[in-house]
Amino acid sequence: KRLILIGPPGSGKGTQSPIIKDEYCLCHLATGDMLRAAVAAKTPLGVKAKEAMDKGELVSDDLVVGIIDEALQKPSCQKGFILDGFPRTVVQAQKLDEMLEKKGAKVDKVLNFAVDDLILEERITGRWIHPASGRSYHTKFAPPKVPGVDDVTGEPLIQRKDDTAAVLKSRLEAFHKQTEPVIEYYSKKSIVANLHAEKPPKEVTAEVQKVLS
Ligand code: AP5
Ligand code: ZN
Ligand code: ZN
Repeated sequence: KRLILIGPPGSGKGTQSPIIKDEYCLCHLATGDMLRAAVAAKTPLGVKAKEAMDKGELVSDDLVVGIIDEALQKPSCQKGFILDGFPRTVVQAQKLDEMLEKKGAKVDKVLNFAVDDLILEERITGRWIHPASGRSYHTKFAPPKVPGVDDVTGEPLIQRKDDTAAVLKSRLEAFHKQTEPVIEYYSKKSIVANLHAEKPPKEVTAEVQKVLS
């Protein structure tokens, strides 16, 4: 399957995608994770992306379309994929359609993680992540077995630089202005599944599985 996960910051995209990936054996591409890795490695891409990311603004369409275009060439992504955090603008959605058309493929389903803005601050400010795998935890909603330590690797967890209440405001603004029109774009193609993403993680997983079965 070719799937897109779309939703505001903290809506649970990153939490649900490893579960979907394990179950359907797809390639998982999270532009946020890829960009953070580039920033940490100080690659030319990372240097260009850092300023916008720190402010909670979107990185330019050209940069993210470039990394997705390259990643989708990988053999593991030919049969299906999960895109987490892409496309985030209508231009990105159009470019993705063009890339897929060339291969005679199309997006099968868009999972819309609908959550009210009001509950996102607590989710974002309590999040801890394992940068190498992208796994996220939450001090209250999904605590690791040992505080500050990844369950799987035993490596330390960190907080994201953009996970502050102030930066969340700009991220939400970018979501409403630039990304909600993308949901509209796919609604016209009748491939959007709306999830109740404010429910507990396990219930969201069950909804996802129902949509995909
Ligand atoms: P990105 O990394 O994509 O961040 P985001 O969209 O803001 O989304 P998050 O990762 O914050 O949320 P999530 O939905 O994955 O939440 P999670 O599951 O971890 O992008 C970062 C930046 O990169 C952007 O601001 C932009 O600058 C740039 N960028 C990336 N892609 C781009 C693009 N395509 N174009 C341009 N720029 C781009 O959950 C959050 C917390 O809540 C966790 O602690 C989790 O444990 C907890 N939680 C999860 N589900 C539940 C639940 N159901 N109940 C209670 N708690 C829950
Ligand atoms: Zn995420
Ligand atoms: Zn809105």
